[in-house]
Amino acid sequence: MQSSVIPTGIVREIPAGTVLFSTTDESGKITGAGKSFCEISGYTAEQLVGSPHNIVRHREMPGGLFHLFWAQLATGKPIATYVLNLAADGASYWTLACVSPVKDGTYLSVHVQVSRQDHHENLRHAYDTARATERKMRAAGMSARDAAAESSSILEGLLVERGYGGFAAMAAVVLPDEVDAWDKLPRPQLPAAFVKDGHDVGRVLGATREIDEELAVLRARLVEYTALARSLSTEAESLRGSVGNLSRTVTAAAAASEEVGGSAPVLARAAAAAAALSDETSAHLQALPALLQATQAELMQLRVVVAMCVLHSAAAESFAVEIAKGEASGDAMGSLELLCAAIERTVAAVEREWNSVGVRVTEAADHIEEAADRLAKFQRMLLDWRNLVVRFRLSGQLSGMLGDIDGQEVRSRARMKSLRDLAAECRDAAKPLDLNRLRQAVSRVSIR
Ligand SMILES: Cc1cc2nc3c(=O)[nH]c(=O)nc-3n(C[C@H](O)[C@H](O)[C@H](O)COP(=O)(O)O)c2cc1C
Repeated sequence: MQSSVIPTGIVREIPAGTVLFSTTDESGKITGAGKSFCEISGYTAEQLVGSPHNIVRHREMPGGLFHLFWAQLATGKPIATYVLNLAADGASYWTLACVSPVKDGTYLSVHVQVSRQDHHENLRHAYDTARATERKMRAAGMSARDAAAESSSILEGLLVERGYGGFAAMAAVVLPDEVDAWDKLPRPQLPAAFVKDGHDVGRVLGATREIDEELAVLRARLVEYTALARSLSTEAESLRGSVGNLSRTVTAAAAASEEVGGSAPVLARAAAAAAALSDETSAHLQALPALLQATQAELMQLRVVVAMCVLHSAAAESFAVEIAKGEASGDAMGSLELLCAAIERTVAAVEREWNSVGVRVTEAADHIEEAADRLAKFQRMLLDWRNLVVRFRLSGQLSGMLGDIDGQEVRSRARMKSLRDLAAECRDAAKPLDLNRLRQAVSRVSIR
């Protein structure tokens, strides 16, 4: 169903730093709405509550988008997507919508202004293409439902093509980037007088402030973590390359040792042992990219839940202010309770994700340390072989490869040293976080 409001072409901007929120039942019927959502959409809370959320549906949005949207919600996973909405007066407004299941079949939707024009442009074009295809299918007599289902696969393909990995994966790219940008915008100041214990609203406000502070610490560590994981991947990649080269050269040296070292079989044996170990080290390093990729994926997931948590906390905070000012309507305490429940849920997810990132990073550090140990052993063997070459006066005959081996050995030693340093940093970063203050703030946010 589409809104009967005719779009005027006027585009409304969401004021900087503002958070819009609404809550719905499982069918998408609105059960609560904040003042900012009412102001932007031009509907009163009374008009919104009880209406299906498609009251703000804009005809330019492809049905395929909502097909993907509901399919994802049905899996219990949150979504983040750009959406163009239609206000009661015909104006339209773009938002970044972050929608998540909260409890007992309820959904919470938090919207903020679009800040990342790069993502927005990319995705808007994908929506336009899906919408145009849908129109053609509708004109050919296809039902709206079937056209939406068809265009959802087209849209999914376009999102993959544009580097967003599909609808579900898009949240991991777009949401943290948008929240980082949103967080830098000036936010409406909270009235200090409400930040006190004694009544629910004051308690929620005090707690959300603490949650924000703790999240800021967490986000700073997350930035370090992400940079660390990135350097680890780059370093590991070049180490893999240099160990591969070294392995090939040492294998060639082993063959040459066999030829020239007839009178000194120990030389051929030493070279063969070193070559076998360098092959082993090389094979061991093959597993590292997959391990680091899994770590990056966990980190992205962590960025998503932290970003969601920031939005949930901001929505609870601004709604608590509305209540304190007497501006909230409807079942305000019920809506606040849902917002608080959403914070509890996302903080629990943050804790879980943080721990699994820690496990992954420790695994990667273990793997690197093991590779480093093997490489150190290999280097000792190589040194033995080099000494034998000198002892048996074969440097002249092997001169073609000695320089190469020595150079490569020095390079891979340096790479291994920096990788070992990074592994040590990883172990440090993977130390459990002190989440006690966050936990305490979350326990205070609960208004039950
Ligand atoms: C929590 C929640 C928030 C939603 N927010 C919006 C929204 O801002 N705009 C929108 O068009 N649809 C929104 N929807 C989806 C609508 O329920 C609906 O599926 C969509 O407007 C498509 O309507 P149609 O099926 O009548 O075409 C939301 C749904 C939920 C559960």
